[in-house]
Amino acid sequence: MPSPGLLQSTTRWRTSNMADYLRLRGLARPGPAGGPPPPTIRTRSMKVPKRLQPLVDDGMIDEVIAQLMSGKEAQVYVVRCGDGLRCAKVFKEARQRSFKQAVQYQEGRKMRNSRRARAMSKKTRYGQKEQEQAWLSAEVDALYRLASAGVRVPQPFGFVDGVLLMELVADDEGYAAPRLDDVTLTPEQARDYHGQVIADVVRMLCAGLVHGDLSEFNVLLDPQGPVIIDLPQAVDAAGNNNAAMMLERDVNNMRAYFGRFAPELLTTDYGKEIWALYESGELHPDSRLTGHFEHDTSSVDVGDLMDVIDDVLEEEAERLAPAWEGS
Ligand SMILES: Nc1ncnc2c1ncn2[C@@H]1O[C@H](COP(=O)(O)OP(=O)(O)OP(=O)(O)O)[C@@H](O)[C@H]1O
Ligand SMILES: [Mg+2]
Repeated sequence: MPSPGLLQSTTRWRTSNMADYLRLRGLARPGPAGGPPPPTIRTRSMKVPKRLQPLVDDGMIDEVIAQLMSGKEAQVYVVRCGDGLRCAKVFKEARQRSFKQAVQYQEGRKMRNSRRARAMSKKTRYGQKEQEQAWLSAEVDALYRLASAGVRVPQPFGFVDGVLLMELVADDEGYAAPRLDDVTLTPEQARDYHGQVIADVVRMLCAGLVHGDLSEFNVLLDPQGPVIIDLPQAVDAAGNNNAAMMLERDVNNMRAYFGRFAPELLTTDYGKEIWALYESGELHPDSRLTGHFEHDTSSVDVGDLMDVIDDVLEEEAERLAPAWEGS
C-alpha cells in the first residue's frame, strides 16, 4: 500500500532543532549500503531541559535532540539513547494539566497498596503526592499492559523522575510519525486503518482498558499503520461507570475521522456492538464484528419502570436521611 499523504505532513517541521534531528537520523535508520551518506549538518544538540537532566546524569539519555510539538499535558522530546532515538515525555506540573485528571477517569483504578489508596482518599499533602505519582505512572502501566496484549502502542522503556521513555514512532524516513490529523487518506486506506484501530480498541478492552481520549490527535501513523498514544487517562473498563460512554465516544471519534475519507463508515455502530459483547462476556481479541447493533426497540412496561424509579428514590432518601437529621 502506498504511503499515506505523508509528504504533505507537517510533522517533520514540528521539531525545534531540525538540523540535529536530521544529523542523527542516520543513527536511527542507517541508509542502504552504497546509498547516499546521511546528511551531515554540524550543529550541537539542544540544551538539556531541566526535567531531563537527572536522566542524562544517570546515563539513561545520551543527548536531547529536539522537542516535538508540546501537548496540553506534556512536553515530548526526541532523545538519543546509545545508538537509537527514543521519545521522552515529560509531564507538566499537576496544576498546568487540564481535564484528563478529572475524577471520572480515575474511578475504579486499582491501587497496588492499600496504605497508598487510603492516603489518596484524604486531602493531605502526602495524599496529594501519592495521587500525583499514581497519575503519572498510569500511562507507563497502560503501555506495558497494552503492548503485551498485542495493541500497537509505542514500546515503553521505563518511567523515571516523572519522565516516560518510549519508542519513537517514526515514518519510513525516520522522522517522528505524523498524527492522523496531519494526513490525507484514500478511501481504501481509511477503511483499512479504521479496521486496524477498531481491532486495537477491542484488544485494549479485552485487556481491561478504555483509552478515554482517542482521537485523530492521539493516533500516529507509521509505515505499518496506526499506533495509539497518550494514555495517562486510560480508564478501567470493569470498575468505572463511565467506561461504556467513553468507549463509545472513542469509537465514534474514529468513525467521524475515517468517515471523512470513507463516508460509508459513518453509518457503522462499532462502539455499541463492542460494548454489548464485552458486557455479555463474549468479546475476544478476534471477535468478528459487523459494525451494526440491534437497538432494543421492544416496548417498555411503564408500570415496572415507575416501580424501579420509586425504589431508587426511596434508597436515596434513606441514604441522605442521617445528614438531614444531623443538620
Ligand atoms: N512515541 C512517540 N513517537 C513519536 N511522536 C510522539 C510519541 N509520543 C508523542 N508524540 C508526539 O508528541 C505529541 C504529544 O504527545 P501526547 O499526545 O502523548 O501528549 P499530550 O500532552 O498528552 O497531548 P494532548 O495535547 O493530547 O493532551 C503527539 O501529538 C505526537 O505528535
Ligand atoms: Mg495527545
